[in-house]
Amino acid sequence: MTVQTVRVQLERSGYDIVVGGGLISSIGQRVRGVISERASRAFVVVDSGVPRAHVKGLVESVEGAGLRAHVEVITPSESVKSLESYGRLLAGIAGTNHGRMDPVISLGGGIVCDLAGFVAASYRRGVPVVQCPSTLLAMVDASVGGKTGVNLTLGTGGVMKNLVGAFHQPSLVCADVGLLDSLEGRHRRSGLSECIKHAWICRSVGHESLRGWMDENLDSICGFDPAIIEELVARNVALKASVVARDEHESPEAIAGGRMLLNFGHTFGHAIETLEGVSPDGDPGNAPLHHGEAVALGMVAACRCAQALGRCPPSIGDSLCEMLTRVGLPWRVSGLVSTDEIIERMGHDKKAVGSTIRLVLPTGEGCCEIVDDASAESVQAGIESIRG
Ligand code: GLY
Repeated sequence: MTVQTVRVQLERSGYDIVVGGGLISSIGQRVRGVISERASRAFVVVDSGVPRAHVKGLVESVEGAGLRAHVEVITPSESVKSLESYGRLLAGIAGTNHGRMDPVISLGGGIVCDLAGFVAASYRRGVPVVQCPSTLLAMVDASVGGKTGVNLTLGTGGVMKNLVGAFHQPSLVCADVGLLDSLEGRHRRSGLSECIKHAWICRSVGHESLRGWMDENLDSICGFDPAIIEELVARNVALKASVVARDEHESPEAIAGGRMLLNFGHTFGHAIETLEGVSPDGDPGNAPLHHGEAVALGMVAACRCAQALGRCPPSIGDSLCEMLTRVGLPWRVSGLVSTDEIIERMGHDKKAVGSTIRLVLPTGEGCCEIVDDASAESVQAGIESIRG
């Protein structure tokens, strides 16, 4: 079994992302290698979607390494990513006498990574966190880079995604690709959306080969061939690691090649992600959209917006729709609210700068730029293009 290690080298610290099959059985030793020898317990936050055998394997390994494990289970949904859940987890960790040296360990998808990470960032002003992502989306995005937090529900009932949180880099990311075997198709496709996002920004961040590699291997990627998926995860975390290393805190000065580029598709996507009754296939039973589905649609809208501004050829949006179709992700949906309402929701996105909507828009193959002055007509054209 191969294990690939990607280093996230930050200015003052760094950590490894290990990618491979069957890593969970050695997680205890791996965690021990990155924490104080004085640590005696672990607060383990588990996604209810992770099969029990994997949870048992992780707990046995952690306890075998001399850490008493306390397990909390989260059933993930955007509404669970809230201050209430965060408060419950804080009360839970405080109740175990968890010390400053003791680690939080997450085992789950993006919502669990974000919640557990935020608990670790803030409990006793910060304790170590080890992220063990269990979904493709969490492996290639959420677990890497230290973004943690929850959504905020406003008095109006509106939800602002990820509005409250902290940057808190993990001590280790352990991406056991064996966990993906039990992932159902929709979650697999959702994760592929973030990989496609990386392919559409790859030249701007110095990872030119990702797009070509994905094109060449798309059939095996869609078939979830284990060796190809391991390589896909390794290549995608390498891209994300290098962006995070250059711009750990998404600083406004670094926008040209910085972390902001990772938001390609997200401003349009976040505005439609929590819409009630919108689903990838028109079946209300499949609503709401998953994060990766909303990002897929958001990327298409961004391409068409850039096209309307005359900053990008139509072929970039066309080839995106082609790849999304092959992967089984939506590029058009029915049931969206009015374009004005979507634009208003985009203005509430935390990436908005004052009254300006900041967008990541493509300029060519694998290249994106940050645009603060997109015309209302171009944004409308982007939204109209995804209306089914
Ligand atoms: N998901 C975007 C970032 O981590 O910056």
